[in-house]
Amino acid sequence: MDDLSYSAQHSGWEDYPAAQWDERKPISWLDDWEFWHYCIEKYSSTDAPILELACGNGRITRQIVLSGYTVFAVDINPHFLNRAQANIPSHLTHCAHFFLQDVVYLSLNRQFSVAIMADWAFPSILTPADQLQFFRSLSKHLLHEGIFAFNTLFPTIQQIGLIPTDTGFMWPDGRRFDPMTQIETRLSGDIPLQFRHTTLSEIEWLCQMTGFAIRERYGNVDRRPLRGIMGDDLTLILQKVM
Ligand SMILES: C[S@@+](CC[C@H](N)C(=O)[O-])C[C@H]1O[C@@H](n2cnc3c(N)ncnc32)[C@H](O)[C@@H]1O
Repeated sequence: MDDLSYSAQHSGWEDYPAAQWDERKPISWLDDWEFWHYCIEKYSSTDAPILELACGNGRITRQIVLSGYTVFAVDINPHFLNRAQANIPSHLTHCAHFFLQDVVYLSLNRQFSVAIMADWAFPSILTPADQLQFFRSLSKHLLHEGIFAFNTLFPTIQQIGLIPTDTGFMWPDGRRFDPMTQIETRLSGDIPLQFRHTTLSEIEWLCQMTGFAIRERYGNVDRRPLRGIMGDDLTLILQKVM
């Protein structure tokens, strides 16, 4: 890959082993599928392909093709993409197109009516500059009034339980949080993963700067109202309006 963002280089995902991720998030784990299916059914026509950003091992990719759609799926991790490809039933492989790309510099040369980014993949974009670049790249890949559905952690709620120590803030389970960068670092096995805590107002600013509006907002993929209480994340459906 020519261009690799700061986020792609530092989030910890680029070389994460596929077998390890399969154990943590097997393709049979589909608790959130109903929400992504809702977004696709509501905002796409059956013959239009779906853009899936950060597809991982393809658990949602597989559901999209099983539901009769064509999907363009992108991830930064070649091991995950191989796994995702293998998870597509052989009679449907022509419905799934996979791309090894950094979503920050997405370049597919086509536009979609629906893009999704499932399972808190958005926090892997670590800096405001990369987030802005990501929104700009995404906008180029959406038709007018196209939608982008994603979820991300709710910072204040995620930060409950943080303990100040001499070397910074951490949770009792060993995860660390740097208030200067808004980045949480946690070990997944022995691999450090980084996640940015992005507030709703920051997302609103990104929308304003790049021509998106928030169309639907929920406190989780079960579509509970967003209230900023325990258990909430930010589950959002944005629409390209400019
Ligand atoms: C928490 S996993 C979610 C995977 C998948 N969306 C799912 O629902 O199972 C985060 C995914 O984001 C991918 N990712 C992280 N940063 C990326 C980037 N800059 N470009 C493309 N994919 C990225 C990782 O490789 C990983 O597959």
